[in-house]
Amino acid sequence: MSELLCIEGLTVRHGATVALDAFSLAVRRDELFVLLGASGSGKTTLLRAIAGFALPASGRIVLNGQDIAALPPHRRPVNTVFQSYALFPHMTVAANIAFGLRGMDRAAVSARVREMLALVRLESLADRRPHQLSGGQQQRVALARGLAPRPALLLLDEPLSALDRALRTETRDELVRLRRHLGTSFILVTHDQQEALTMADRIGVMRDGSMAQVGTPAEVYEGPNSRFVAEFLGSANILPGALRADGSVDLPGLGTVATNGGIARPVLLALRPERLRLGDTGGVNRLTGVLAASVYAGETLIHTVRLADGSDIRVTQSLHDGLSGALPTPDAAVTVSWSPDACILLPP
Ligand SMILES: Nc1ncnc2c1ncn2[C@@H]1O[C@H](COP(=O)(O)OP(=O)(O)OP(=O)(O)O)[C@@H](O)[C@H]1O
Ligand SMILES: [Mg+2]
Repeated sequence: MSELLCIEGLTVRHGATVALDAFSLAVRRDELFVLLGASGSGKTTLLRAIAGFALPASGRIVLNGQDIAALPPHRRPVNTVFQSYALFPHMTVAANIAFGLRGMDRAAVSARVREMLALVRLESLADRRPHQLSGGQQQRVALARGLAPRPALLLLDEPLSALDRALRTETRDELVRLRRHLGTSFILVTHDQQEALTMADRIGVMRDGSMAQVGTPAEVYEGPNSRFVAEFLGSANILPGALRADGSVDLPGLGTVATNGGIARPVLLALRPERLRLGDTGGVNRLTGVLAASVYAGETLIHTVRLADGSDIRVTQSLHDGLSGALPTPDAAVTVSWSPDACILLPP
């Protein structure tokens, strides 16, 4: 059995709000599962239900083959690292890490604390108190405290959101390294799609208390199953059209483009901005328009092209060679081209 956690039909209500609606999810052993979703979609509620802090109205939560839904939080082999690290201010770093190890003998506790300090590379700070640490160091203490009892599953609710960008990237890599090293499964909540794409073994995109899609980062990014997922993860140009049996899509007012699709039906055509090229670069599909704006974004130029029907599409151009010369002139007539592979067909 490769599944560590199996959630079936989980419903959690907060008064009249249905925070989780007959929710199902399977998390594998030894994976970093990232939960993405808009504010209020139920991510924290899900973690709280798994940890035992939110009471489900119905459903099963099976961990390691055992239904844990009736167990109190401290009897579940699950730990949580909350967004506000919640370190005990009056305790040293070492005492914070030892907090969840009651019941172990003293020698074993101090060995485990040393091991955890080494793991998060804070050996030299064992005797400090939280207010004497930087935000990133506090975050690592919270992580060490969560991992110290060796839970089967660690839940992390936006653990990196308080960190600046450089520290975020560093801590993100650290988390991935730690998890691989320990072989523990993590469920991590984030709002940051870059974080989700780079860290996750699999991503689950939540919407209004349900799971919209689950898959590897590439599966979900390149094969979104709905307009919601296509627009939530990354950005997408959405053009309504009709798919014909030969795989071409009629875009009313714009023309016809080739895709790899097959069954005739109305569709939404989704195009990732980075799969589009400005200029007639030999892509099979072409639309003409007028350049409405170009914005410099460091790694890319982001162009907005106004199409014949008045709609705008976004094209990102990678600046491999830097920005040579000036930004393109607005109002120039341009061609946008792309290959059929880049066409994502979605239900309307
Ligand atoms: N204690 C509570 N009492 C009443 N309603 C609640 C409570 N906690 C959460 N809710 C509601 O349940 C829904 C899900 O909330 P939840 O905190 O799980 O969202 P979230 O996905 O974690 O959002 P965020 O990204 O903003 O943290 C929201 O509509 C929220 O207002
Ligand atoms: Mg939350």
